Amino acid sequence: MTAEVFHHAVQGQLLALPAREAESVGERVRSLHQEVMRAVPQVDRIACALYDPQADTLRTFVDSTQHGAGLQAYECPLGDSPSLLRLKELRQTRVLQDIPASVQGQSHHSRWLREQGFLSSYTVPLFHQGEFEGVLFFDSAAPAAFTPEVTQRLDVYARMVGLMVSHEIAAVRALVGSMRIAQDFARLRDVETGGHLERMSRVARFIAGVLAPARGLSDEFVEQVFLFAPLHDIGKIGVPDSLLAKPGRFTDEERLAMQAHVALGVQMVERLVEGFGLGQLSGVTVLRHIVACHHERMDGRGYPAGLAGESIPLEARIVAVADVLDALVSPRAYKEPWPVAAALDELDRMAAEGHLDPACVAPVRPHEAQLRAILLRFSD
Ligand code: C2E
Ligand code: SIN
Ligand code: SIN
Ligand code: FE
Ligand code: FE
Repeated sequence: MTAEVFHHAVQGQLLALPAREAESVGERVRSLHQEVMRAVPQVDRIACALYDPQADTLRTFVDSTQHGAGLQAYECPLGDSPSLLRLKELRQTRVLQDIPASVQGQSHHSRWLREQGFLSSYTVPLFHQGEFEGVLFFDSAAPAAFTPEVTQRLDVYARMVGLMVSHEIAAVRALVGSMRIAQDFARLRDVETGGHLERMSRVARFIAGVLAPARGLSDEFVEQVFLFAPLHDIGKIGVPDSLLAKPGRFTDEERLAMQAHVALGVQMVERLVEGFGLGQLSGVTVLRHIVACHHERMDGRGYPAGLAGESIPLEARIVAVADVLDALVSPRAYKEPWPVAAALDELDRMAAEGHLDPACVAPVRPHEAQLRAILLRFSD
């Protein structure tokens, strides 16, 4: 394939999106997998894991599996696997021809690799503008499936998947980045710190991850919750400073003025989505839901729409719990920080009274240690 033909094939993949509902990256990778299998039938699984530079971990993102259950919700420190680390540092690919025999380590990662039942695998690092972005796994139930001829063919597909993922991630970063810059300009971080956004988005992802197996939530969805949660209060940019930084409790009138931050946020999302031409970005619905619905209540007494129960999108119910938890344990102009134990009691109380979704609060207490670690790690 010449460079030009390759370029067109890739553009075709990127542009061949349906006019209405945007196709998720997972769906696009699954259709590409069908194409790969026509050329290389022994590729039973294609999966992409993203690199998180802050946590120095790899997390599963999209997964297309022919046989058995797709492997999901896996996160491992990059340093756990010397060969994965080499992918990043030396930009090398990795071929494992005989996983049961060659992967002997006792690390969580090695054990997991043996247990997943594939006999050989080919792993390709993904870079975007020089930055390590993640890795792509091709796995086979057959031994020694990845001969040099096969890996050469797969490299073309690896670049296509890499571009699909980079394209999506770059679009999301542009959107999130510009909204964060807007938050900085508005000095919103004087009121709600970067630490708050970091903590609440990780708490939201944690809750989504706990709910994922029983509810069949994809890694891609969990990742979108994480990426877009920090934008939930973007509309506070349009709220006067005098309200944002008010030291005491609100009057009823002030409370109403503050509640306008939801409608303002929805307007900003629409403007930015249009400005960036991001109507096709699959995560935009998740973003809209988070911004629009994070102050709805299960009993229908929330704002702005008064939606109740399951008609509040799950991503918004999750973000509400994460937002309230972090708001409670953080200092605000109007309140002292709460101890974590008291905040957990308050979440239970708010679930019992019909404010928060009990199903989204339920994962909190059993995982108190992990959540405390998140709060501590990203403390201001
Ligand atoms: P925020 O400070 O980020 O709080 C987010 C949400 O956390 C609140 O949404 C509320 O559901 C929950 N929350 C915060 N503190 C407490 C608390 O002490 N007890 C309980 N049970 N829940 C709490 P809400 O109420 O819709 O408020 C939205 C935003 O309006 C707040 O964001 C804050 O910026 C502002 N705000 C709300 N009430 C007051 C107030 O009395 N004074 C001031 N200065 N700002 C307020
Ligand atoms: C790895 O190869 O280290 C991860 C396992 C996989 O998804 O193939
Ligand atoms: C709030 O909405 O500010 C908290 C009131 C409650 O406990 O539901
Ligand atoms: Fe809010
Ligand atoms: Fe918040």
